Amino acid sequence: MHLPLKKFLSSMPQLGEIFSRAEIFKKTGRKVVVVQGLGFVGCAVSAAIAGGVGTDQRPLYFVIGVDLDTEQGLSKINAINAGLSPVDSPDPKLSELIKRGASENHNLCCTFYDEVYALADILVVNIPIDVKDRTQTEAGKIEVDTGSFKAAIARIGHLVNPGALIVVETTVPIGASQQLILPALREEFAKRGFYKEPQLAYCYERVMPGPKYVDSITRFWRTFSANSAEAACKAREFLSTVIETKEFPLCELETLEGCELGKLLENSYRSANIALIYEWTLLAERIGVDLFSVIDSIRVRSGTHCNMRFPGFGVGGYCLTKDSLLAQWSLTNLFDLDITLGMTLEAIGINYRMPLHTLELAQEIMGGPLEGIRVLICGLSYLPGVPDTRNSPGELLYDELLKAGAKVTVHDPIAHAWPQRPKAQLLANLTDCLGTAQLIIFTTAHGEYLDLDAQKLSQSRPSPPLIVDAQNVICDSRAAQLHGLGCALIGVGKGHWRARGYHKRIQTWARS
Ligand SMILES: NC(=O)c1ccc[n+]([C@@H]2O[C@H](COP(=O)([O-])OP(=O)(O)OC[C@H]3O[C@@H](n4cnc5c(N)ncnc54)[C@H](O)[C@@H]3O)[C@@H](O)[C@H]2O)c1
Repeated sequence: MHLPLKKFLSSMPQLGEIFSRAEIFKKTGRKVVVVQGLGFVGCAVSAAIAGGVGTDQRPLYFVIGVDLDTEQGLSKINAINAGLSPVDSPDPKLSELIKRGASENHNLCCTFYDEVYALADILVVNIPIDVKDRTQTEAGKIEVDTGSFKAAIARIGHLVNPGALIVVETTVPIGASQQLILPALREEFAKRGFYKEPQLAYCYERVMPGPKYVDSITRFWRTFSANSAEAACKAREFLSTVIETKEFPLCELETLEGCELGKLLENSYRSANIALIYEWTLLAERIGVDLFSVIDSIRVRSGTHCNMRFPGFGVGGYCLTKDSLLAQWSLTNLFDLDITLGMTLEAIGINYRMPLHTLELAQEIMGGPLEGIRVLICGLSYLPGVPDTRNSPGELLYDELLKAGAKVTVHDPIAHAWPQRPKAQLLANLTDCLGTAQLIIFTTAHGEYLDLDAQKLSQSRPSPPLIVDAQNVICDSRAAQLHGLGCALIGVGKGHWRARGYHKRIQTWARS
């Protein structure tokens, strides 16, 4: 038995205890909800469901979260059982809900014993289904690992009460409900002698792990579909107790495929918009245009253009970097269709390569090779104010800088570890980092960077630094100040800085 497990077994409720607590809830007419997968989505979903109360202010559900018996799974199980959030979140509501559910109302507990599926009136699936290589954008070559997902669904089919409602929230390939999930459930039911059709709803998540983490579940629009009128009715009833549907009405689609497609289209649409602006970013930089103010002037057209994206460093996170690939994989592998989502795939490729433009800007402002240069990357997460570093576009920049021979240090005010690049020199004290950097690259618009004053930023020794602003961290007045203090600056989408000559230092700078 590995070490963490020993530690966790003592704090995790035993199966018998979970069954007795669930029975007490059931006896009072309340339902048991089991959530499979306690990651970024599942932990918040479990907490949100546990937070639901009836008119008598009593919790509506007994919620059991299930994750794997792995080091990562166990740490999530343990955190929630201790009343703590397993993810570092800027939203205080998340930890409040977990504390209330696990430590005060005692209607939220977690385990790795999946036998608890048998207790579920409602089972919510939040485990991943992933593409093998997010950089592979050639239609026939995209690979999706469905094995562990299908095995997890089969396990549900093996244990769950056949009358339970299964709500899949995982982002799945189009056709997964009909071609992967329902067949796996039917097969397991049949092995147990049940020939009742499973009750399945598909209802994708729109969780945003920022300051409105919980509200992005409970106070946001949701779309769902189900495989029967009975399942749809149960799903609507359940979702209405978790989501504030009076303000954010549910949208029910006729087919499961339509709903699956909706999630992938939603993220592909956003990804394509980002890629489109990248193309215009390159143009604006070349002809001296400030693309930010241009886009501001266009976004006033509310209803048609208010959502235009701004220039930036790149695309990261768990969803936007894979969902278009899942869509293409479905067409080829589940529908056997000879259709290529050309623009969609092109966009995902452009977005993946986007950080290389920041590298080019770094090389340009350096005016020579980056070998031996002390480079500071400011910002690891793909969104400001969020400590999530998964698929951060910073990975590609970091790797390329190392290849170019630069001495790279990294700073982030809220992401205190970079599990995807464990060897990176991640420093906590920004003042120290700024003091020695020759080249500073802003890759996330964290508040701490937006607030940096020009004196502090220009203090590098022996010379003021060169600055690449890839995420609109530095406003024009600060740029002018920094340039006056001896810095040279270049920015993604900031053609006007180049036109003003900010990319050249006022004083000549000798390389040290
Ligand atoms: N992260 C987001 O912001 C976001 C937003 C919307 C939708 N989604 C989608 O939600 C799904 C989950 O995403 P996530 O970010 O929570 O992933 P995650 O990797 O953070 O969490 C998944 C969890 O599931 C657990 N798990 C895997 N197999 C399991 C099994 N058989 N039984 C129990 N637990 C198991 C893992 O250990 C992990 O803790 C994905 O399909 C994702 O695309 C994510």
